[in-house]
Amino acid sequence: MPIVRAEGMYLYTEDGRAILDAIASWWVNLHGHCHPAIAEAIYRQAQTLEHIIFAGFTHQPAIELAEKLLRLLPKNQSKVFFSDDGSTACEVALKMALQYWHNKGIKKNKIIALQGAYHGDTFGAMSVGDRNPFNAPFAEKLFEVEFLPFPECYQVACCAGSRNMQKCKRVKLCIEKMQELAQTGEVAAFIYEPLVQGAAGMRMYSVEILEKLLQIAKENEIICIADEVMTGFGRTGKLFASEYATIPPDIVCLSKGITGGVMPLGVTTCTEEIIEAFRSDDKAKTFYHGHSFTANPLACAAALASMQILLQKETLNAIARIGEKHIEFETLIRNHKSLRNVRTLGTIIALELQTQQASSYFNEIGKSVYQYFLDRNILLRPLGNILYVMPPYCISNSELDLIYQEIEVFLEKIHTGI
Ligand SMILES: Cc1ncc(COP(=O)(O)O)c(C=O)c1O
Repeated sequence: MPIVRAEGMYLYTEDGRAILDAIASWWVNLHGHCHPAIAEAIYRQAQTLEHIIFAGFTHQPAIELAEKLLRLLPKNQSKVFFSDDGSTACEVALKMALQYWHNKGIKKNKIIALQGAYHGDTFGAMSVGDRNPFNAPFAEKLFEVEFLPFPECYQVACCAGSRNMQKCKRVKLCIEKMQELAQTGEVAAFIYEPLVQGAAGMRMYSVEILEKLLQIAKENEIICIADEVMTGFGRTGKLFASEYATIPPDIVCLSKGITGGVMPLGVTTCTEEIIEAFRSDDKAKTFYHGHSFTANPLACAAALASMQILLQKETLNAIARIGEKHIEFETLIRNHKSLRNVRTLGTIIALELQTQQASSYFNEIGKSVYQYFLDRNILLRPLGNILYVMPPYCISNSELDLIYQEIEVFLEKIHTGI
């Protein structure tokens, strides 16, 4: 569908339709499309310094962005590494963690991830992601990773989606496996999407469980990599999902919303302890990773402008308002017969549709649900049978109400079979 223009919440098609972007264009857009302040910042930057090699050189937008990011991130974060997107932010994190142990001369090379994980489409990111039909053609080339059972079952017979650590059998299995692997002393890093697994269907797990996993990791000197590519910049109601836990990650991966969703940019941050292992006169200890467009000044300028908007009271209030509206809607439809489960955190609400097939990305209902809403000029792009709303923060209450109403009508229709 050719889109010729976008503004605020809307995408405009060639034939004049205005489509409400209820998924923030794959979770990237924070403040609405073509935000004038971000456009202006890019324009000004393009006239001053558009791009330079970032080896041996640096520039003001990158320095300012790094300093400002570190002020927002968990306090233990101390160094910023730039790359291009979410996948490369994760690649960098994995390489950093593995080389940290290599530089220290300690043999630790196992990586732990969660079942259902998605960290991107490059080889390292695919390796730590769920093994599924998307990466099946490359299965033999992916490196070995230990996957923990996802710590939530969504089964009524078990814990009814309560995310209760004491009740859920899957949680127990997850924690036990983490403990077992951690004690081998061979684990270099644990990579996770904090609290919400996006691509797996907006699957959520509790802060309590995240804390427990991080605690085990810390006790066993395992580097914790928080992939905040989707959850970062307010998505879960806090600036970063990691803020919900008391134990901070060692490495953080950022992208998507970092530029307000306007320019591609990846960032990986780490602690002083990690960077210390790379500071040496021995060239073999250098972190040899760089991209042509590392720290692109236009992307950095967009990120600085987006950050300024994000930190305004108005935007923070909007994030809270969307969260409250989602909770109200969740309460209203929680027991609908067409739903298997409803979950919400911050600006994300996910509805698991009741179908004959199991819940998965390949559940066939997804395609027709996408078309159904698109026909009504709403962009909702379900992950299989998981219908979710994750809007830019500039969405109004009436636009949210419209989406909820259309979803209710749709749920009624599938319930009555019309
Ligand atoms: C948690 C997470 N990590 C990494 C990625 C990959 O980001 P990108 O598509 O920018 O490479 C995504 C993309 O959806 C994501 O959700």
